Amino acid sequence: MFLSLAFVTLAASLASAVPCKRQDSCACGYVDDTGAVWREAVESDFTSSSGALSVVQQSWDVQTWTSGSSDVALARQNVAENVFEYQDALGLKTSAYDGSGTTKVAEIDSKRSDILFGTFRMRAQVPSTPGVCFGFFSYNGNTTPVSETDIEFLTAMPDYYQRVHYTNQPGNVNGETDFDAYHNVVVDGADFTTFGEHRFDWHPGSSTFYYNGALTSTITKNVPAIGSAILANVWSNGDPGWSAGPPTADAIATVQYIKMYFNSTSVSEDQFVSQCQAAGNVAQCKI
Ligand SMILES: *[C@@H]1O[C@H](CO)[C@@H](O)[C@H](O)[C@H]1NC(C)=O
Repeated sequence: MFLSLAFVTLAASLASAVPCKRQDSCACGYVDDTGAVWREAVESDFTSSSGALSVVQQSWDVQTWTSGSSDVALARQNVAENVFEYQDALGLKTSAYDGSGTTKVAEIDSKRSDILFGTFRMRAQVPSTPGVCFGFFSYNGNTTPVSETDIEFLTAMPDYYQRVHYTNQPGNVNGETDFDAYHNVVVDGADFTTFGEHRFDWHPGSSTFYYNGALTSTITKNVPAIGSAILANVWSNGDPGWSAGPPTADAIATVQYIKMYFNSTSVSEDQFVSQCQAAGNVAQCKI
């Protein structure tokens, strides 16, 4: 009894001797495991006790846009209700198709759309219902062609739980797949329907992709070079050439966190250096 009480007291004093002031102390940026330095961060922990949707509200916009249909594709309607609290994390859902000609899908876009280079990590479970595309990607739709680096999972594929699709758009040339801009990779032994971290690092001239911290692919073609937002979505338009589907049951991706460490077009090198000096040149935060 006496010993365990003493231990509790010691543990408490040790904890208070190491104050956790991470937000204050990262004024000199973040250094990742490749040695790259990033000035800014957005860390969204959807498992937080404040609730996934309140975390979404801080840094993300829930989408409500609708796209039209075509010969091969159903219309898609993004509905806010399909972005929801799920299993103590964030659920992104394509609803079971109701035959109406329109699928109900889910998407969140980062409020920041000025992100230019960084490292982007999502810990998530891929849906196990066939017929959706689950995506985590950078996006700027104002360029022609669009600027986009994609991590995508296609749940209609037999090996969808270990096959991941990486693309720097456009992923085709003259209607043919461009295997310099699109890689699809099977990660032997992986099960993406269990929680894992999917990551892309965006540098000038290269996009590198990781699963649970291990490098899976590098693409050097069509690397975006413009301020962008980061998006996550689950969608289906019935197109047999990509999402397939639509799903006959709800298809839900569960996202525990998205962490982004990046530079932006809004904070210059000079501003960053002054901010770091003003904070006393504290050490960079290791991520
Ligand atoms: C990001 O910002 C850091 C700190 O200013 C700088 O050292 C680094 O070169 C920048 N990275 C890119 C890819 O621009």
